[in-house]
Amino acid sequence: MSALAARLRTQTWPAHRQVEATPFVRAMLRGGLSLPAYCLLLASLHPIYAALESGLQRHAGRPEVAAIYAEPLLREAALAADLAHLQGADWRGTLKAQPQALAYAEHLAALADAAPALLVAHAYVRYLGDLSGGQTLRRIVAGSLGLQGDHGTRFYDFGPPAQVSALAGSLRAGLDRIDADEATRAAIVTEAEQAFARHERLFGELETARAALSP
Ligand code: HEM
Repeated sequence: MSALAARLRTQTWPAHRQVEATPFVRAMLRGGLSLPAYCLLLASLHPIYAALESGLQRHAGRPEVAAIYAEPLLREAALAADLAHLQGADWRGTLKAQPQALAYAEHLAALADAAPALLVAHAYVRYLGDLSGGQTLRRIVAGSLGLQGDHGTRFYDFGPPAQVSALAGSLRAGLDRIDADEATRAAIVTEAEQAFARHERLFGELETARAALSP
C-alpha cells in the first residue's frame, strides 16, 4: 500500500489532466481571462474556501485534519481581499458564485458535519494545486490583467518560493502521516477524484458565463 500523497497524485492525475484541458482553464493559461471573468472565478472560489476552511478549523483537533492543517494555507481572507481590490468593496453584492460553486460549498459543509476526514481530500486538491500550478497562474493573471505587486493576486501568495515548497512538502508529509484505516484512505482518494470532477463542472459553468460576458 503506497503512501497517501503518492496515491492521491497517481490516482487523480487523469482527472487533473481533464480539468487542465477545460476551455476555461485553457483560457486562463493563455492569459485570456478578462477582469470580469477572473472576478467571476474568484467569487466562485470564495464560498468553496470559506466552507472548506470553516470545516478544517472546526476539526483541526482531529488527527486526520491536524496532520494537514496549517494556517498559512488558508485562502478565504486573501480571496476576499483580491475581490475587494479587483471588483470593489461591494463585491458581495455585485458578484454571484456559480451554482456549482454553491453546491460544492454545501457538500463541504455536509462533509464537515458527517465525514470530516474527507475534507482532507479537498485540502489536497485545492492547496496543493494552488502551491503547484497556481504559482504559474499567478504570473499569467498578473501579466494579463496588468496587476502590480500583491494587489489582486494575494490568493496565490503563500510567501517566497522556499516557503511555497515548504508548505507543499509539509502538506504531502502530513498526508503520509494520516493514520487512517484502508477504507478511509480509499474514501479520501475517491473524494479527491470527485473534487476534480466538481471543478470540471464549475469550469464548465464559468466558461458559459465568460462567453456571455464577451462582446
Ligand atoms: C491551470 C492549469 C493547471 C496547470 C498548468 C497545472 C499544473 C500543475 C503542475 C505542473 C503540477 C505538478 C507540480 C509538481 O510536480 O509538484 C500540478 C500539481 C497539482 N495540481 Fe495542477 N495545474 C493546473 C490546474 C489545476 C487545478 C484547476 C487544480 C485543482 C482543481 C489542480 C490541482 C493540482 C494538484 C492537487 C496538484 C498536486 C499533485 C500532486 O503532486 O499530488 N491543478 N499542477
